Amino acid sequence: MDVTPELRARIRAAFPALSGDTVFLENAGGSQVPAAVADRMRDYMVSSYVQLGAGYELSRRATALVDEAHDFVGMLVNGSDGEVVLGPSTSVLLRMLADAWVPALSPGDEVVVAEIGHEANIGPWKRLERHGVRLRWWRMDPATCDSPLDSLAEVLGERTAIVAFPHVSNLLGGILDVAAATRLAHEAGARVVVDGVAYAPHRAVDVAAWGVDVYAYSTYKVYGPHMAAMWVSRATLGELEGPNHFFIPDDELPYKLELGGPSHEGCAGILGLGDYLAGLAGVGDAAGLDRTGVERAFEVMTACELPLQARLVDYLGSRPDVRIIGPPSGGPERVGTISFVHSSRSSREITELVDRSGIAIRHGHMYAYHLCRALGLDPDDGVVRVSLVHYNTPDEIERLIGVLDRAME
Ligand SMILES: Cc1ncc(COP(=O)(O)O)c(C=O)c1O
Repeated sequence: MDVTPELRARIRAAFPALSGDTVFLENAGGSQVPAAVADRMRDYMVSSYVQLGAGYELSRRATALVDEAHDFVGMLVNGSDGEVVLGPSTSVLLRMLADAWVPALSPGDEVVVAEIGHEANIGPWKRLERHGVRLRWWRMDPATCDSPLDSLAEVLGERTAIVAFPHVSNLLGGILDVAAATRLAHEAGARVVVDGVAYAPHRAVDVAAWGVDVYAYSTYKVYGPHMAAMWVSRATLGELEGPNHFFIPDDELPYKLELGGPSHEGCAGILGLGDYLAGLAGVGDAAGLDRTGVERAFEVMTACELPLQARLVDYLGSRPDVRIIGPPSGGPERVGTISFVHSSRSSREITELVDRSGIAIRHGHMYAYHLCRALGLDPDDGVVRVSLVHYNTPDEIERLIGVLDRAME
């Protein structure tokens, strides 16, 4: 696909925050939103900011909007055979999920977690040890930062109940073969819980193609409001005990899993993403957006992102004083989340210098604490992480490289 300067300009024009001076290269922390998202949130709040489930017209409209947001996310992840649960964050949703699973687990059952995981998909499972559940680790190869499927196979067994892993580590950037890992886990009779937070901003999610049981991501990293979404297959839902009040029946979904309900204005914002994706896919507005349009929109994003990540990874790879933490080359097998350490400068030092030039990046363990430890890194200093998405530009990457040259002199 041809990425013209006009396309890049059109994309940037959709995001009001990008007209300022800051260069946003901390997108794995959180992305900017298109005007369509902010507009929908404002419109909702000034026109129908009422409670759901009452009989009056405004309430009926608000209820329909929240339902529509769930349906939209279901379409976005290609998940017709399951339910979408919305909540304040992926950390909250995964913690709630683990707690909801307790009644279906027995002492001696095992949960496999990935060493490269974000703590949001490790800690909630570790907490189940108090119920007699055993935690097993899918180890990473510290030389390559890969998580080989062989290492997963080694820890699967007849007691494995759940395998929890990230689609992409928010520190490494490499894309895991979710379908293959899911097949292995299913062969062992386990359910699969995928943390898709670091993947979803870059590529179209397709839970049906991968066969996963649960897939969670943070909408605020996918050009939307500060919320999160978790798709759960219908088969898995039957095993969970929802946290919502006793008089709400188990089959009242997704409400049974949405204690307190989701942010209504956030749901309006989530729908605004549909307008933006429709524009990228060239199909007008959200009403014209279907699954094919979603895939098309993410293809455009990927085409915009790939040359940028290739340029930055090549630059870092050309420096003998830099060690890339993650896949050492750009390309479709990774996303634009690129981490590195320097042979003599601390990650903090480099990041502070870059920050001072108006370029927003980050350093640290990124909540992938176990991963940092396994790599022998001091988690507090961690790595320098540059995370770009489709709306970043070649000029921004050149500007960053110029600053990194000076910071690592
Ligand atoms: C890979 C990954 N998983 C989970 C999370 C937690 O997401 P949330 O902030 O929505 O709890 C993050 C947040 O940075 C993340 O990068």
